[in-house]
Amino acid sequence: MANEAKAFMNGKKVSLKDAKVGIMTHALHYGTAVFEGIRGNWNESKEKMIIFRLKEHYDRLLRGSNILKMDLGYTSQEMCDITVDLVKSNGYKEDIYIRPLAYKSQELIANLKLHELEDDLSIIVIPFGAYIDNTKPIKCQTSSWRRPEDTMMPTGVKLAGLYTTSILAKTEAVSAGYDEAILLNNDGTVSEGSGENLFMIQNDEIITPTETDNCLLGITRNTIIQIAKNELNIDIKERRIHRSELYLSDEIFLTGTAAHVTSVGSLDNRTIGNGKVGQITKTLQDIYFSIVSGKIEDKKYKSWLTEFKI
Ligand SMILES: Cc1ncc(COP(=O)(O)O)c(C=O)c1O
Repeated sequence: MANEAKAFMNGKKVSLKDAKVGIMTHALHYGTAVFEGIRGNWNESKEKMIIFRLKEHYDRLLRGSNILKMDLGYTSQEMCDITVDLVKSNGYKEDIYIRPLAYKSQELIANLKLHELEDDLSIIVIPFGAYIDNTKPIKCQTSSWRRPEDTMMPTGVKLAGLYTTSILAKTEAVSAGYDEAILLNNDGTVSEGSGENLFMIQNDEIITPTETDNCLLGITRNTIIQIAKNELNIDIKERRIHRSELYLSDEIFLTGTAAHVTSVGSLDNRTIGNGKVGQITKTLQDIYFSIVSGKIEDKKYKSWLTEFKI
């Protein structure tokens, strides 16, 4: 049985039901916050919680906080320690999602500045299974919404306000009967999914948009780049991708903390490859799942896992 749900807020652990902000909070009005999405995978045979790349998530949170001129007062390592303690207090023995949020906490809405405002860090933990059913390929739609350019909003970090675009795109796709949206850049090249990075495979070459194609610098993206290199001896190529190249590809898959590695079976009602999970996608999926769930013990990947008993 899980314990009473706890959150971290205002520098301490509190009951989740008491973790509230006021209606005047700056971040609520302007999206002035950065957040992270982190997974903890429950390994039943080891009876251990395994959090994936915890430190890297907090490093990205700190980079985003810096852009928003926040001084959270915690190092990345301190936030990792707070998180482990919070996860233990919640006591879930199942897969979880951890959501840290660094936000402009001051109740001062008539202020369109980032500086001279108070900040806070909150962290919540919830049980979390599959975000997308990735046992079968999904149906995607090219969104009519474009991924904002980095010149409009910082795209390489998880800026809360930026997610309005992702939510518009996802809603449009799901309302039209698709599973997920693919967003293009303003110039019509491919950026990413509403909450995932994108990879395409053509003639055994794996290609993903570059870091300057306005996509989030995904931790799962980086994980897949390293797994492909170490385990398949494939150097993933990072370059701009034209929209129609996606229709011509043999396989497409999406990556993200929530979505894991998800195969795309069709895009805009055009079948990708043979419409089934492709061979390279399947291989990468299997290796990725074995690592994040702690099923393979490989020294190379040990530093990615924060493991502990509940
Ligand atoms: C817009 C967007 N792109 C990509 C990703 C994948 O990032 P990560 O692998 O770090 O979860 C996410 C998920 O958080 C996202 O929201």
